[in-house]
Amino acid sequence: MANISDKMNEALNKQIGEELESAYIYLGMANWFEERTLVKLADWFDNQAKEEFAHAMKFKTHILERGGKVHYPMLREQKQDWSNIMEILEATLAHEQFITGKISELYELAQEIKEYSTLPLLLWFIEEQVEEEDNAMALIDRYKGYKNDFNFDHHVVREEAQE
Ligand SMILES: [Fe+2]
Ligand SMILES: [Fe+2]
Repeated sequence: MANISDKMNEALNKQIGEELESAYIYLGMANWFEERTLVKLADWFDNQAKEEFAHAMKFKTHILERGGKVHYPMLREQKQDWSNIMEILEATLAHEQFITGKISELYELAQEIKEYSTLPLLLWFIEEQVEEEDNAMALIDRYKGYKNDFNFDHHVVREEAQE
């Protein structure tokens, strides 16, 4: 028997869609870099996509562990073209901030409907979002120091911030 409420189940399910769409966004960005042989950046964004997929799976596991039901929504096509690197980096930060907002809403909902068993998971995501936003901001800051995109690509070091 399900011990997760329908309301929480539905809200977390929606978040699975957000995480998968995040992966979709970053895959498009990775392609943009790959097309321009900015390979390290392509790698950075491919890894980011993998992390987002892992986030979706984390929500999935929680729902199933609590006897809920998972439904994968249809993914919308995402933007796949940008005019320059800065536009992508800023879009990345803005997207992470958007996701942080979504996680905060879930946290508020869990408190409101007394879904205390979901709070630790959401706290994990709150912490994760601090890191995600920080990574995006760090990339923007470092990019500002380079005049040449290839130099930037060559020197971008991915912080191993998995899960
Ligand atoms: Fe995520
Ligand atoms: Fe993220």
